[in-house]
Amino acid sequence: MRDLARRHGPVMLLRMGELPTVVVSSREAAREVMKVHDAAFSSRPLSPTVGAISNGGRDIIFAPYGEHWRQLRKVAITELLSARRVLSFRRVREEEVAAAAAASTSSAAVEMRARLSALVSDASARVLLGDRCKDRDMRLSTSVRCWPGGDPEEFRPERFEETGGAGEVDFKGTDFELLPFGAGRRMCPGMMFVVANVELVLASLLFHFDWEVPGVAKLDMTETLGVTVRRKAGLLLRPIVRVPVPGV
Ligand code: HEM
Repeated sequence: MRDLARRHGPVMLLRMGELPTVVVSSREAAREVMKVHDAAFSSRPLSPTVGAISNGGRDIIFAPYGEHWRQLRKVAITELLSARRVLSFRRVREEEVAAAAAASTSSAAVEMRARLSALVSDASARVLLGDRCKDRDMRLSTSVRCWPGGDPEEFRPERFEETGGAGEVDFKGTDFELLPFGAGRRMCPGMMFVVANVELVLASLLFHFDWEVPGVAKLDMTETLGVTVRRKAGLLLRPIVRVPVPGV
């Protein structure tokens, strides 16, 4: 898509079989789709495969834009994902992070994806399903879809703090160059939930430990494609305790 966009520009019409598909890949074009003409683009395409896994498009992610979707979204936000609810899950977050940090004190190298997936799924399962029921199969991952300035292939997240020197680029759906959670009516309702968890996990892991990459000078940033984009290689790190975890 990136190579095609370089050749044909930021708005392309592709015919995927019999499905006409518009691909936009600039800040301005994303803004047109997700803000100016948001209502016209507020239903997701429903292929037979997606229909089969989404109860015929009755779930919140694939429900066509309309009353049924509105009701689902209202429940999800008020019952689970509002700022107030997210704040109320603080104890669960802190307990799970403390447990994960305590488990990292042996200074043996740790496979981070497995460890972080377990942490996120445990914390999420406790708030979504209640304390007694845990399901380890939930996976959360980040995808940054648009890159301003510089070489988009290079991993350099600080680029979003530099734009125009006027402060950080907002990632919450108002700056159309960085849309990890989308924008507009169908934007991710889990954003506050995710941010609260990611911030605490990252801050705790960086506060309590220095992290050593055993034997590798530069990380391999080759990506692999799935429902989300992620690094292909695992991330093996050795935690060196800096500030001991209380009680361990
Ligand atoms: C790092 C983690 C996450 C990222 C990067 C992410 C990103 C996204 C993106 C890009 C969309 C599509 C937005 C659009 O169409 O404009 C989306 C939709 C959605 N996300 Fe997330 N998400 C994350 C975690 C979560 C979590 C933890 C939950 C729930 C607990 C969640 C619930 C949803 C739902 C229900 C939708 C569909 C909303 C709708 O169609 O109305 N997400 N997410």
